[in-house]
Amino acid sequence: RGAHGVRPDLAGRHVLVTAGGTREYVDPVRFLGNASSGRQGYALARAAAARGATVTVVAANVALPEVAGARTIAVTSAAQLRERVHEVAPSADVIVMAAAVADFRPAAPSAHKIKKESAAPDSIALERNPDVLSELLANRRPGQVLVGFAAETGGPDGSVLDHARAKLARKPVDLLVVNQVGGGLGFEAPDNAAVVLGAAGGETVIERTSKDLVAHRILDLVGGIDRSDAE
Ligand code: CTP
Ligand code: CA
Repeated sequence: RGAHGVRPDLAGRHVLVTAGGTREYVDPVRFLGNASSGRQGYALARAAAARGATVTVVAANVALPEVAGARTIAVTSAAQLRERVHEVAPSADVIVMAAAVADFRPAAPSAHKIKKESAAPDSIALERNPDVLSELLANRRPGQVLVGFAAETGGPDGSVLDHARAKLARKPVDLLVVNQVGGGLGFEAPDNAAVVLGAAGGETVIERTSKDLVAHRILDLVGGIDRSDAE
């Protein structure tokens, strides 16, 4: 056991964690963003470091103290996050995509601040961002473990878990951590709760607890994955 009673089960492994939420600028002072605080991603980075891993954090707009013992790379937009993730990914044994990455960006951001006296735009034209996790899946190296996150609300076309299972079918990661949005949990909250879907159909319920303990439960599941026979 290590200094803090945590088993160093990730010693010798390089864990890449993305955290926070990307910003897509409309003009030099305004952006489309999301409510992700980076707390769960930072908790994962902390937990991985405590378990002996070499940790790289790609942090999108996170207003939290940096994780001690980890290398942190700050990014703003989804395009920047994508670039940095692909630089680090080839040496990562485990990649945890906890960041909320924008699906769309303004197609023609203004170089100058948009003034209210100018004609009000009816809409902001958007274009799609590449899906980083899908790219990681396509370029995955043998034995590399990929963990995705899904924040879902459910809707008329299905429950939170229906949506999450469909997401896992589209992006066949080893683990998909599913958070239900709403009910006072998620984003800024210190606590979290999740259902973790496994590639083989397994489902693990993590009852409401601190984001640090949620992180350790997720890493316990990562430790149980053996991709050593992967091609
Ligand atoms: N993700 C990514 N690149 C994107 C969008 C998402 O790598 N451009 C990653 C997220 O970091 C997360 C996972 O994909 O780990 C699922 O993100 P999510 O937004 O829940 O899924 P989407 O496939 O974008 O579907 P939707 O937003 O329609 O629910
Ligand atoms: Ca999305």
